[in-house]
Amino acid sequence: MKDLVYERSIAGSLVKKEFGAVNHPHMESTVEIFKFEEQQRSLVHLKTIKHELLKSVNDIVVLGAEQFYATRDHYFTNFFLVLLEMVMDLRWTYILFYSPREVKVVAKGFSSANGITISPDKKYIYVADVLDKNIHVMKKHDNWDLTQLKVIQLGTLVDNLTVDPDTGDILAGCHPNAIKLLMYNTEDPPGSEVLRIQNAVSEEPRISTEYANNGSVLQGSSVASVYQGKLLIGTVFHKALYCVL
Ligand SMILES: *[C@@H]1O[C@H](CO)[C@@H](O)[C@H](O)[C@H]1NC(C)=O
Ligand SMILES: *[C@@H]1O[C@H](CO)[C@@H](O)[C@H](O)[C@H]1NC(C)=O
Repeated sequence: MKDLVYERSIAGSLVKKEFGAVNHPHMESTVEIFKFEEQQRSLVHLKTIKHELLKSVNDIVVLGAEQFYATRDHYFTNFFLVLLEMVMDLRWTYILFYSPREVKVVAKGFSSANGITISPDKKYIYVADVLDKNIHVMKKHDNWDLTQLKVIQLGTLVDNLTVDPDTGDILAGCHPNAIKLLMYNTEDPPGSEVLRIQNAVSEEPRISTEYANNGSVLQGSSVASVYQGKLLIGTVFHKALYCVL
């Protein structure tokens, strides 16, 4: 990776041997495709994907070879227009489907589409709307279009989503207090919150708190991942926390 400049690689997703990562060179968005070399445990860069609809990319979920869904978290790229977009709640952000043959918007109307992930059976897509403080459960169709099944309100700013591979539960890295995150004060730091959503597709999803802290231990949690009874929590700019469940 010596010859590649990764200014801010914010999200990635691995399917079989192919790995996709979001990159933001010079305030633009690209998706970088890598091949995972299992023996060497290394990534080999294959290609850079750019497209006029691939703007302000927040997260992706890889579906196959050079195929993915991507969330767009802002419609505008200019800072003041982004503020205007948020204040006026324009809801112009969307989910894009990308493949070498077809690129299309498959769901729209989000305040700010953020984290995205897929259910273990590959039938449903979960997407976090960070400003609306909720998760949209979407059904995936054969033509890659998405239709909304339900919205799960969480009352906290939902950032990245992952799925527990053993149970299919959604794990959401959340920001309980946005103001403290934006106006950082060491005396009164932002806290952390990780929610677990069981049976997201059912009539009665169950929401429980997997981890919560006022900032004394962990600040600004943005992602959580579980693997065989172990929980790893990542943050926007603080450290990572490892817990045995
Ligand atoms: C999660 O989201 C935040 C901001 O939305 C980003 O900075 C961070 O890198 C993301 N982490 C992962 C693992 O996707
Ligand atoms: C956070 O919680 C700890 C104990 O759990 C407490 O000592 C500390 O004062 C709290 N900090 C804030 C900023 O509320």
